[in-house]
Amino acid sequence: MNNLDFLKDFPVLKADENGERLVYLDSGATTQKPIQVLEAIENYYKVSNANPHRGAYKLSIDATKAYDDAREKVKKFIDAEFSKEVIFTKNATEGFNLIASSYGMNNINEGDEIVISIAEHHSNLIPWQIVARAKKATLKYMYVNENGEIPEEEIKNKITEKTKLVSVTHVSNALGTINPVKEIIEYAHSKGAKVIVDGSQSVPHMKVSVRDLDADFLVFSGHKLLGPMGIGIVYGKKELLESMPPYIVGGDMIEYVYEQEATFAELPSKFEGGTQNVEGAVGLAAAIDYLENIGMKRIDEIERELTSYALEKFQELPYVKLYGPKDLSHRGGIISFDIEGVHPHDVASVFDSHSVAIRSGNHCAQPLMRYMGINATCRASFYFYNTKEDVDKLIEATKKTYEMFLKWR
Ligand code: ALA
Repeated sequence: MNNLDFLKDFPVLKADENGERLVYLDSGATTQKPIQVLEAIENYYKVSNANPHRGAYKLSIDATKAYDDAREKVKKFIDAEFSKEVIFTKNATEGFNLIASSYGMNNINEGDEIVISIAEHHSNLIPWQIVARAKKATLKYMYVNENGEIPEEEIKNKITEKTKLVSVTHVSNALGTINPVKEIIEYAHSKGAKVIVDGSQSVPHMKVSVRDLDADFLVFSGHKLLGPMGIGIVYGKKELLESMPPYIVGGDMIEYVYEQEATFAELPSKFEGGTQNVEGAVGLAAAIDYLENIGMKRIDEIERELTSYALEKFQELPYVKLYGPKDLSHRGGIISFDIEGVHPHDVASVFDSHSVAIRSGNHCAQPLMRYMGINATCRASFYFYNTKEDVDKLIEATKKTYEMFLKWR
């Protein structure tokens, strides 16, 4: 199957009457949605909408089943052992906040160390600043080299017997680096630390098995893998989640409530207070079906082909500076770059006039940008629905933008 065949499923990406279509290269920020996901959500509201876990009537039972089925689908998708290890959240940011508040605040003590990488997204950074400050612990960083990779010595120097928690991204949203999370987890475990993996930029693009990685926690969001916004996942090992107090308290997460105290529901309900985003879960389940139908291996291959082709083309342009790993096998489908003499925001605006959508800015990774001595980059991020033609348009837009700004110098 050619990846052009996928485009028919994505209404936003269809060509207009003049045969023009948007070159969408910002899937790292959010992915476009196929008709199958949109229909699953619509169908849910048409035939199964009720508040799950609350009604004894058929419609509520249908809604509960749709919600539970989605959890089961996620469980299989990430290869978790138990479906109760899958907690629905609003997004990845909420996932990190949940773990920081519930696990971090109760397991990090004075003198302990939390280790993250300098390339973390703010959502996997600020929660740890807060925990470290509150618990008088130290937040340490694993720094990247000039290729945006964490050297092995850095992992071994920073993760020590004092480390209680390591939280690291699988694939950097800013540089595209694939971090050796399996090795980091193994090393951290040998020092007695628990590890959280930020799967936001990996789970949508490659096969991720929490059991193969032996991750203690995995966090990701649904909207970056074809699902709707407002649904995210925290995976946690059963015994860890069971030992943790609830995060959001109120409806549906209780067992008994008395005037002065309450006891809490079993997993996963303990972490899912309030009416849940069933529509989001149903959409996410349809998204997983769509991805599995193509196959994660194929998706990974398509993105590798596109990335390799784009890097090759970019390398022919002497005024383009590329960031991230030189070794293709250490890269996801994200390319961070600069056009000499043109601010990334100007690049993104001019690209937009050529119907090429990219992200520009600090990519929610200010400490990384500061460490690299820059303020911002341009970022093109691919998904399986992109084509070689999209890459050609990206390169064409790059040339035109450079030439346009050259005139004004
Ligand atoms: N985290 C998303 C990105 O990298 C928003 O663009």
